[in-house]
Amino acid sequence: MEPGRFCSTARVVIVAGKGGVGKTTVTAALAVMAARAGLSVLIVEVEGKSGLAAALGGSALGYEEAEVRQGIRARTLTPDDALLDYLNSHGLKRISKRLASSGALDVVATAVPGMKDILVLGKVKALDLERVADLIVIDAPAAGHAVSFLMSPRGLLDAVRVGPVRKQAADVIELLSDPGRCQVLLVTIPEETPVTELVETAFAIEDRVGVALGPVVVNGCYEPLDLDGGPDAESVQRDAERVGVFVSERETRDLVAAAAFRRARYEVQQEQADRLARELPLPQLRLPFLFSAEIGPAEVDRLADALAREVEALDGTGT
Ligand SMILES: Nc1ncnc2c1ncn2[C@@H]1O[C@H](COP(=O)(O)OP(=O)(O)OP(=O)(O)O)[C@@H](O)[C@H]1O
Ligand SMILES: [Mg+2]
Repeated sequence: MEPGRFCSTARVVIVAGKGGVGKTTVTAALAVMAARAGLSVLIVEVEGKSGLAAALGGSALGYEEAEVRQGIRARTLTPDDALLDYLNSHGLKRISKRLASSGALDVVATAVPGMKDILVLGKVKALDLERVADLIVIDAPAAGHAVSFLMSPRGLLDAVRVGPVRKQAADVIELLSDPGRCQVLLVTIPEETPVTELVETAFAIEDRVGVALGPVVVNGCYEPLDLDGGPDAESVQRDAERVGVFVSERETRDLVAAAAFRRARYEVQQEQADRLARELPLPQLRLPFLFSAEIGPAEVDRLADALAREVEALDGTGT
């Protein structure tokens, strides 16, 4: 499928998954891929301090939108900001000022379970309605919160019978359950526990939230080592001689061990990615593990290239 078309499947893409699997990195790569296809992109960072700015090469994000790269704007969105926005846009500016200055904001937002999530999602819905960008990418909160984050409107709809909160919850559900407006991109790494959890999360999200799942991003995949079973100590020594470097016996042993380890990891990753394909009938987008000290703009570019190749390989008739 053509990347531009892939990025136009739904205006809102929520990138979710277990902590540390690469949500923020994938958010950045997706944004770059979309911008290259000519789409205007807004990244919404829900947790703050995600490393997103570093990945894209911009300065720290704030509540005000800022252009971090050509075609890509980014901003943060905390529940407190969302509540103030909500009150302001509903003619309650005076109340919101007083709430903010008295510190009562947190009390309001924490008094009702799910209230914070609904405030954030409600603001996302508003951004979608305002057509602030061709694509809005949400870097969702980490660590198993994805399901509760996305479930919050349903819980509130059950708990609250009338009033603005109920309306907000209903509007958010409408957004979440419309595959033309919103889809969730789940991210995992090809390791046993993350894959198991991802499968559970995927079913929970589809069953209980009713939101459309896009392909699963399998991040951090090792590329195959083209070494034909080797190297062994002899071939290391032979290669060393050929290029004229001295490699000690100990270094030779370490190199052989490192290659064997790497090969074993590759096998494990393949098994886990295959298991994921068997247990979850969603297409996969596999992204390489990059051996670099940190993920900056150059690495994000490489991941955006890889993502585009994977998207192009999707047949377009799938989910
Ligand atoms: N494909 C990759 N190759 C190498 N390193 C990666 C890759 N993807 C992510 N990383 C690194 O792994 C770490 C976690 O990535 P990232 O911050 O994107 O994960 P996250 O899911 O957003 O984490 P959190 O749950 O803490 O928000 C970072 O240090 C990042 O630079
Ligand atoms: Mg993150």
